[in-house]
Amino acid sequence: MRPVCIVGTGYVGMACMLGLAELGWVVHGYDIVRDRIDRLRRGIPPYREPGLDEILRKHAETGRVRFFDDLEDAARDAMVIVVAVGTPARDDGSADIAGLRAALEALSEVEFAVRPTVAIRSTVPPGTTDQFAALVEQRCDLVYAPEFLREGSAVHDFLHPDRIVVGCTAPDAGLAYARLLQGLERPLIFTSRRNAELIKSCSNAFLALKISFANEIAALCDSLGGESDDVLRGIGYDRRIGGEFLRPGIGFGGPCFEKDVRSIEYVASQRQLDLQLFSATLRVNDAQPRRVLQSLEREMGTLAAATIGVWGLAFKAGTDDVRDSLALRIVDSLARRGARTVVYDPYVHVARLPAASRLTTSALEAANADALLVLTEWPQFAAYDPTEYGPSIRRRIVVDGRNILDPERVTAAGLRYVGVGRESSPCPKRLTAVSAI
Ligand code: UDX
Repeated sequence: MRPVCIVGTGYVGMACMLGLAELGWVVHGYDIVRDRIDRLRRGIPPYREPGLDEILRKHAETGRVRFFDDLEDAARDAMVIVVAVGTPARDDGSADIAGLRAALEALSEVEFAVRPTVAIRSTVPPGTTDQFAALVEQRCDLVYAPEFLREGSAVHDFLHPDRIVVGCTAPDAGLAYARLLQGLERPLIFTSRRNAELIKSCSNAFLALKISFANEIAALCDSLGGESDDVLRGIGYDRRIGGEFLRPGIGFGGPCFEKDVRSIEYVASQRQLDLQLFSATLRVNDAQPRRVLQSLEREMGTLAAATIGVWGLAFKAGTDDVRDSLALRIVDSLARRGARTVVYDPYVHVARLPAASRLTTSALEAANADALLVLTEWPQFAAYDPTEYGPSIRRRIVVDGRNILDPERVTAAGLRYVGVGRESSPCPKRLTAVSAI
């Protein structure tokens, strides 16, 4: 069996690599960072995700995953090469595709055994794959095959996609890629490379828009005394809308949403297109951490010299990733207001925090503060007993920036509960629409 080669062993590359190994393919992983390859050879993944170590160990044993620090060795015999290198945002919002160009240039030098399909899987501005095709087309066919993986469940998402999108000009090249995933039996969309690029970035833009929509509805609920849990659930049951990604909170963070929306906004502005929704999505998201801080300030009066316990630093639950985490931004803002913070996150044990802040490995120690602020939606936070952590919160204030705690339990423990678009003094247990039927 000819191997598949993955160039770039970050989140996207690793999920692809291990997912393909699960499907029975032999996969060669290559990365320009040698240290990363050394660690992977020793079974150490580059990031944390539930179950990742086990799958890596399993396929080191089956022999289906192998790591290379030489591109020629990794790619020479491959039938498909997947390029999953980073495309970070520049200050002006445009995507930095220099790493992708360098990877394709390096591939154009490889003496392949047979002409392979090269699939770009990094998120790129529309038009990039067509623009880069000339770099490699003497020796390979270039397709665009976006990923829709969430961190924390990336291998699972790879194996259970809602759809498979392949952008290509030559059908055979697209088929070579699609055949890798034929065991998944998911809807397959063959389209142009540009359309595939647009599908990827506009999917993320729509998910980001949904979150910003939920956050504005929550603000409306706060102002009117409404209950966003019920309002958004009532909206989300409409199948045309869907209930996922309608959870209000501190806003969306992470390496994808903001970057992707800014990139589309940049592309639109370069074409003098006057589009409104993308920048509005980002503006709402920028305001959201401030809203949560204002809730805390309203309860506390001043934050100067206060100690605030913080639960959660990762940009979302299930990962140790703090890239573009709004929790970090809030911790920075607290420091600017003169507050000290004691931060607990079950996965994050190293982070650059402001001088007046420190990380602890105990949730209870973080709760030993004037007030408690919940910033990541880790399910275990909801499971902690408020009668245990409550007594150490001196001002008895809990601001739940993720609506993850049970307001009734927290209030019953003698604490003042403030959520996002949630009534502060919840009404007695209501019948939900579902339980009433
Ligand atoms: C996202 C997309 O989901 C994925 O398809 C794409 O390939 C990469 O970007 P990811 O960044 O891993 O994945 O995280 P996601 O689960 O989408 O969450 C992004 C952010 O939005 C997190 O900060 C999360 O806490 C927040 N979020 C998510 C909300 O605030 N409310 C929600 O309802 C959902």
